[in-house]
Amino acid sequence: MKMILDLDTGIDDALAIAYAAGSPEVDLIGVTGTYGNVLVETGVRNALSVLELLGLPEVPVYSGIPHASTKDGFEVLEISAFIHGEDGIGGAPVAEASRTVENSDSGDAVQFLIDSVKEHGDDLVIVATGPMTNLAAAIEKDPSFADNARIVIMGGALTVPGNVAPWAEANINQDPDAADKLFRSGADVTMIGLDVTLQTLLTYEETKKWRELGTEAGTFLADMTDYYIRAYDTTAPHLGGCGLHDPLAVAVAVDPSLVTCLDISMKVDTEGATRGRTIADETKLNDPVKTMKVAVGVDVERFLSEFMGRISSRAAK
Ligand code: BDR
Ligand code: CA
Repeated sequence: MKMILDLDTGIDDALAIAYAAGSPEVDLIGVTGTYGNVLVETGVRNALSVLELLGLPEVPVYSGIPHASTKDGFEVLEISAFIHGEDGIGGAPVAEASRTVENSDSGDAVQFLIDSVKEHGDDLVIVATGPMTNLAAAIEKDPSFADNARIVIMGGALTVPGNVAPWAEANINQDPDAADKLFRSGADVTMIGLDVTLQTLLTYEETKKWRELGTEAGTFLADMTDYYIRAYDTTAPHLGGCGLHDPLAVAVAVDPSLVTCLDISMKVDTEGATRGRTIADETKLNDPVKTMKVAVGVDVERFLSEFMGRISSRAAK
């Protein structure tokens, strides 16, 4: 299958790249950058470095829209810098990539998404693990995008509280209007939210295995992820590990049987106190066709085994 990753790279976004890189089923045809954990420039720089480190120096990277659809700028939140580090990769040393992004204009990233859906149709899955701003812009620019795109997102929380507010998850909260546009568009969207991603946890025991590989990639992944686990030790000590949010979205794109989903037509609250909440669209409650799938259960053991197997085999090279 062909895949595009839309990322705010970010530690778990980097792990999402690693999962895709370690999946023989996946032909990664591009990465589009968004803002969130870091500025868009930092995120695409990280994506370029990680792709090169993992032996994928030919995958094109496009820099996307640098801020929310309703704003004209973006600043990294203190909590994001704490969880992912100022550089987005926990200060883990990695070589600067020998190339740069494909585009000079963020519109090209949006156009790349549109053109790729036109060209590859059902063979393509877009996995979005940052704010939904680029996807909403693609829907706006070309309404046929929503009819033909297959999308898996990491974002939202249906049956559990949010992580940046009691009702809001970070990716949705950055641009609730964009997420709402996507959710109501009728596009084929699977939502991988905190309901499932906070059940898939990684500990120092696993990162030790990467370090023991003795490779540059293994050491980088271990250093970066240890930073992330330490942050979780402070912000969510009850979990006992770090949430594998973004790689779970890639894993589900590859193998949907890893999760159980509810069929629901969803919306995002864009007004009032609950701005950023992901919830069923009450106006579509009685429609026989449900537009989205929302993951509420996950086979934790099988996912963790796939995660370690795929990433370790790639990092061993
Ligand atoms: C999501 O927010 C970001 O911090 C992570 O990379 C992930 O995509 C989790 O809420
Ligand atoms: Ca992310």
